[in-house]
Amino acid sequence: MSADQTFPTVRTEINGVSVRNLAKSFGTPTYVYDAEKIAQRIADLQAFDVIRYAQKANSNLAVLDWVRRQGALVDAVSAFEIQRALAAGFVAAKDPPEIVYTADLFDEASLDLVVKHDIHVNCGSPTMIDQYGQRAPGRNITLRINPGFGHGHSQKTNTGGEQSKHGIWHDQVDDCLQRADRNGLGVTGLHMHIGSGTDLDHLAQVCGALEKTALQIGRSITCISAGGGLPTVYRGDERPVDLQRYFELWDGTRKRLEAAFDHPISLEIEPGRYLTAECGYLITEIRAIKQMGGNLFYLVDAGFNNLARPILYGAYHPMSICAAQENPNPHHQEVVVGGPLCESGDIFTQDEGGFVSCRSLPVAAVGDYLIIECAGAYGFVMSSNYNSKPMAAEVLLRDGKPHLVRTRQSFKDVIRGESIPE
Ligand code: LLP
Repeated sequence: MSADQTFPTVRTEINGVSVRNLAKSFGTPTYVYDAEKIAQRIADLQAFDVIRYAQKANSNLAVLDWVRRQGALVDAVSAFEIQRALAAGFVAAKDPPEIVYTADLFDEASLDLVVKHDIHVNCGSPTMIDQYGQRAPGRNITLRINPGFGHGHSQKTNTGGEQSKHGIWHDQVDDCLQRADRNGLGVTGLHMHIGSGTDLDHLAQVCGALEKTALQIGRSITCISAGGGLPTVYRGDERPVDLQRYFELWDGTRKRLEAAFDHPISLEIEPGRYLTAECGYLITEIRAIKQMGGNLFYLVDAGFNNLARPILYGAYHPMSICAAQENPNPHHQEVVVGGPLCESGDIFTQDEGGFVSCRSLPVAAVGDYLIIECAGAYGFVMSSNYNSKPMAAEVLLRDGKPHLVRTRQSFKDVIRGESIPE
């Protein structure tokens, strides 16, 4: 495989800050997020009335705070995501709502929180409408509809169609309106999210489906959400999504609904990956290099406990090397990149199905740094303590300065809450 054009395979700095210094100051593995890139991605989407960040992609408080300062609002899918949003300064019960809870179910904690803080609920199941109506009659809700089709970068991230558990099935809208009525809830908006890492052709189909359902519901609709799913570039040969065309498609839908209902309709977008994937760099150190038959392995100190996307989806992340000493070796070689975990699947260069692939990277030595790039979305948030490995540190680069925004876990952190019975 040839080296990516867009992504360098040698990297000495991240937005002007030395990788070596970052590694020395904060240790490895460490996630580094470039705040400026997040701000740029938010700016790209300014044509939409509301940019609602799907914090499941990266919910570090410092990232949420930064996103809020750039004018974006936030989505939450769990009780603790609601609490994170509140802790980062988002305010509930505003118009438009700064925090929206989108889910297919309530657990006790999330139901209590949305009731207590008057957090807007985007219902993904008929059951939620009944449960919420019983606790908070008189409030408004939106409905997340499953249009009967979906698409994602992997079958595991496709959230539409009948194999998906997400959303209210499109032909149950009348039943849901009746449930809302019975429970004294107003239905003021519609939301569709067909999958993550999809493409423009599939996203475009959502506009038509949403429009049809909105017309069925009628004039109570004042807000429509295009959901998330905007793809980002992970490989040099991929093209960025045509945002202008995407906005125009949705704006067309919005305008037709405004004409039909004779009132303004607010247009929301709910990206996760688009805002934070590109900003994130996982700095690791190469701790061993070994030849296994025909394959040369670089073994680094991060594993799938830190970044699960390759083992889960066969996801591709660009990688680069920062030599620990000056004067890196200019030659490339084909390598397999793996981590420290006691499991064969702990490989960062793999295709879906677990088949190991090779990557052309600079010749490196033990002690050099290997940076896994475009790792800011669904990176740290999906990490675990498998093999009792601590979760990585997280650093936010803002105004040219690195800020430690989460400390690496200690042994005490990892065993916290465990006890041995007397
Ligand atoms: N809204 C809803 C209702 C969602 O379920 C999701 C993602 C988003 C927005 C944000 O989607 P995005 O803009 O990030 O594509 N772990 C997977 C991605 C799972 C996405 C789940 N839902 C990955 O690493 O690719």
